[in-house]
Amino acid sequence: MASLDYLDVYFSVQSFNEEELRGKSAVVIDVLRASSSIVTAMSNGARKVIPVEDMDAAVRIARNMDPNDYLLCGEKNGSKIEGYHLGNSPLEYDAETVADKTLILNTTNGTKAIKKAALANRIYVGCFLNQNSILEALKEHDDAIVLICSGWQGRLSLEDTLFAGSLISQMCGGKLPENTKDGVKVAFGLYEKFGGNLEAAIGSSDHAKRLKELVPDGDIPFASQVDLFDVLPGMKDGILINLNG
Ligand code: MLT
Repeated sequence: MASLDYLDVYFSVQSFNEEELRGKSAVVIDVLRASSSIVTAMSNGARKVIPVEDMDAAVRIARNMDPNDYLLCGEKNGSKIEGYHLGNSPLEYDAETVADKTLILNTTNGTKAIKKAALANRIYVGCFLNQNSILEALKEHDDAIVLICSGWQGRLSLEDTLFAGSLISQMCGGKLPENTKDGVKVAFGLYEKFGGNLEAAIGSSDHAKRLKELVPDGDIPFASQVDLFDVLPGMKDGILINLNG
């Protein structure tokens, strides 16, 4: 059985420090909803995504760009930011809206996790929608790998941990080797328990409940689909591009 001793899982943006990622590869996960929006946007032809940690950074970057080329995107505490072109629902990121555009994306936890992973050798963005692309990319690695669940303001998120568990389950063929880190065991165990009905599990999460009051219902079933898109968002010089493009 393949060993997974090179793999770890972090459960929130606040649960690691930047230096821990030096020399490792990272998959940043924010199923609801930043990863799902990034993957959908790239599948629908967005040229690149610039993740930022706050509104000031978004405005600074936009100031130096042609207004026809970019869209300001994102949310604060789940709601679209006033004055932005798009919120953070993957359903907003259709081809008509995002094709050939640069998206400047600012979200509560997801883009902060991506920025905080800056010292990693490689940074990918993953969710159920592009699971296979992530698995294929990870096969190429011989460095340590960390699955970074963005969580919610320092807390664990069920949906992100479930996706980490789904990746782990695929990587070990559904049988967890003995010599694994605690985070890997926890994510795998969660997936074993709830992976049979992803939409129901994700729909029962704390963040799904928060979003219920704020956004249309479609986001949860959409983000629960596995392998809808063959895109691999990867970081190059601070900008996410589709490495499968
Ligand atoms: C985040 O970054 O925390 C999320 O993507 C929030 C959301 O859009 O629901």
